[in-house]
Amino acid sequence: MFDSQTMRPLAAHRCAPLKGTARVPGDKSISHRALILGALAVGKTQISGLLEAEDVLGTAKVMRLLGAEVVREQEGNWHTYGVGVGGFSEPQDVLDFGNSGTGSRLVMGAMATTPVAATFTGDASLRSRPMKRVLAPLTLFGAEYAAREGGLMPVWLKGAARALAVEHEVTVASAQVKSALLLAALNAPGRSRIVQGALTRDHTERMLKAFGADICVEPVAGGGEAVTLTGEVDLRPADVEVPGDPSSAAFPLAAALIVPGSEIFIPGVLLNPRRTGMIETLHEMGAHIDISNVRESGGEKIGDLQVQASALKGAVVPPERAPSMIDEYPILAVLAAFAEGRSVFKGIEELRVKESDRLSAIAEGLRAIGANVEEFDDGLVVEGRGADGVRGGGHVKTHMDHRIAMSFLVAGLASRERIIVDDVSMVATSFPKFRPLMRALGADFRVPAL
Ligand code: S3P
Repeated sequence: MFDSQTMRPLAAHRCAPLKGTARVPGDKSISHRALILGALAVGKTQISGLLEAEDVLGTAKVMRLLGAEVVREQEGNWHTYGVGVGGFSEPQDVLDFGNSGTGSRLVMGAMATTPVAATFTGDASLRSRPMKRVLAPLTLFGAEYAAREGGLMPVWLKGAARALAVEHEVTVASAQVKSALLLAALNAPGRSRIVQGALTRDHTERMLKAFGADICVEPVAGGGEAVTLTGEVDLRPADVEVPGDPSSAAFPLAAALIVPGSEIFIPGVLLNPRRTGMIETLHEMGAHIDISNVRESGGEKIGDLQVQASALKGAVVPPERAPSMIDEYPILAVLAAFAEGRSVFKGIEELRVKESDRLSAIAEGLRAIGANVEEFDDGLVVEGRGADGVRGGGHVKTHMDHRIAMSFLVAGLASRERIIVDDVSMVATSFPKFRPLMRALGADFRVPAL
């Protein structure tokens, strides 16, 4: 069942109430962007709360290969000395992004209008993910590329020597694509205009503003947005405070909801409205999540969450909410299995091109633990079994996907029989301290005897 040479299985057992404070790591999206903009600014950018996980450390390494100075002072505290917009130098090695779609796609954008060439690669999961969605629009700026059949990595990209400003509509609901094009526009003379119908996360726009870019965001007819950016301007360094990642907070939060008698506190979580779809949905499902001490930090809204075990009911999530909770569907589907009644998640075909095909990985995992799920091309329907109704007991395949691993470990804390996930090594890509953090709350994780 497991290849003990390469896979690290872990079992989660039903446990006593979870109690205590969960300090979640820094937001992954903001951490990548802080390093990239810091590498493009002129002067010293100070970053606090940076997520020190494999994905982000990969981006830090790549920024160094492109010529920026990136320094770790102490845990979470980093600084960069940037090379200036257009200042990247040609890397002496291939750029290996490991498991990180965000790192790789954002850097493709950032170097697409600078005349250097680089080869992008990653692990087996990243090498199976679509890159054409970024590469094709980057050619409008004058970049050239070669990729494997289907637009897959390894990808060779050569930035434009004479970049052109671009007007482009992004039809896929992806913040990575929008962000890549905005980063490319930084070194294209004149004004570029990027339109997107879906309201995807806006950390790039906010941070570009903080770094002094000439950027303007306007609503467009039909509900989307147009972002206009003037290229060839210097970015000035900024201090970036990275708030707690709501996509990581989702795991202890979900565990506290389904392990009876639990009560936990999660301070300093990012509450950007483009990221809070999960909390909104959980409130509709009857979850006790109190939000307090709402404040601003580094241009983002943050707050503290008090979470209590709750009797959940199923939810129908509107497709237009999907971008604001796109990474939370795996854990939400687990919660839906512990809820009373039916949950319907539609309009989420993007889940098929994440770190794994998440629609099929979730459905396969839920079936393995005795839950009732139907998989559609663009969604899932989960028939809840109620708080004590999930059998557990299965072996769950994680498909190199950190969020699938963490979601099913959470399920095992409340199911009747223990759940084994086949490999937890990918958890380090986003949440290296997941296990100690969960154990400190009372989670029962054990290395299974093989
Ligand atoms: C991210 C955007 C989302 C999300 C990913 C992080 C980002 O991906 O799933 O984890 O930082 O921009 P898409 O842009 O592909 O939807």
